[in-house]
Amino acid sequence: MKQLLAHKAASDIGFTTQVERLRTQFKESPQYLSLLEELCQFPLGRFLIENKGIDGYWTDVVVNHPTRGRVKGINSEGEPLTPLEQKVLDEAPTFLATQQRYQIFRQQLQKLVPDCQRLLSVPSGLMSELLSLDYADCKGVELIAVDLDRNILNSIAENAKNYSFKGELQLIEDDAWRFEVDKQVDVITSNGLNIYVEKDEKVEALYRQYCKALKPNGHFVGSFLTPIDSWDMDKINVEALQLQKSIFVDLLGVNWQQYRTEKLTREQLERAGFVDIEFIYDEAKIFPTFVARKQALSQN
Ligand SMILES: C[S@@+](CC[C@H](N)C(=O)[O-])C[C@H]1O[C@@H](n2cnc3c(N)ncnc32)[C@H](O)[C@@H]1O
Repeated sequence: MKQLLAHKAASDIGFTTQVERLRTQFKESPQYLSLLEELCQFPLGRFLIENKGIDGYWTDVVVNHPTRGRVKGINSEGEPLTPLEQKVLDEAPTFLATQQRYQIFRQQLQKLVPDCQRLLSVPSGLMSELLSLDYADCKGVELIAVDLDRNILNSIAENAKNYSFKGELQLIEDDAWRFEVDKQVDVITSNGLNIYVEKDEKVEALYRQYCKALKPNGHFVGSFLTPIDSWDMDKINVEALQLQKSIFVDLLGVNWQQYRTEKLTREQLERAGFVDIEFIYDEAKIFPTFVARKQALSQN
């Protein structure tokens, strides 16, 4: 059975039921109850309450917040940002790290663009990390999006228009562990799936699948969340970290809590058939990016 990770954990229950459950669970804890009520006041907060994770649309909102909501002071629905919404998007260490990670992805991918034609994003979400690149020097570029969420795939054409992307688009509604491509690709980019996967073997299987879809010498640009004891606390606002923990861990119990070290990630990538692995860190060392090359003689 195809399994949509990341944002479907609680959504069968529905928002109203989920809020009521949390109100009952935290009825003796006024601090959490008040956080819950504040989360109910903005759309990202309501989505997090209902789903315990974020989907492709909301990931896009979070990573683009520095140039959109933070500048204009309004959220993606055109409403003024609430104080908690602003704190979460401007200060929560993991959100700040993924905003930096997004720009690191774009820089690394842009460096690869001149030598490639077929780039694949899985799980794609809205695929902004590829659509926003400059392909002026690249003839006949084709972007391939793989995601299990039909709704998000349906929104990619509109996103492509917003970025004035002129190349080909291929949309594949399939599971990241099982999708097939007609021809191997030059680049695979993947963010926001391994962080929901508990079992190391399953992450390794994902990397093997990506290796299989790549041409020999093709590149994989990916990310992972590191364990908290390796974060650079000098670069982290401790109050914001405490708030993040209260909301994401204590109150909501979000699903994106599968942390892995650089060492384990390197081993997983090597076993999957990758070499020349480079790690690029965000300031607080929370959400690193890696760039890895598929071995020319890989078994995959
Ligand atoms: C946190 S979002 C990240 C999206 C995108 N990579 C980004 O960084 O903006 C996770 C995405 O994974 C997709 N997803 C979840 N489980 C999946 C699976 N088993 N196969 C393919 N896509 C999946 C969701 O639909 C969602 O779009």
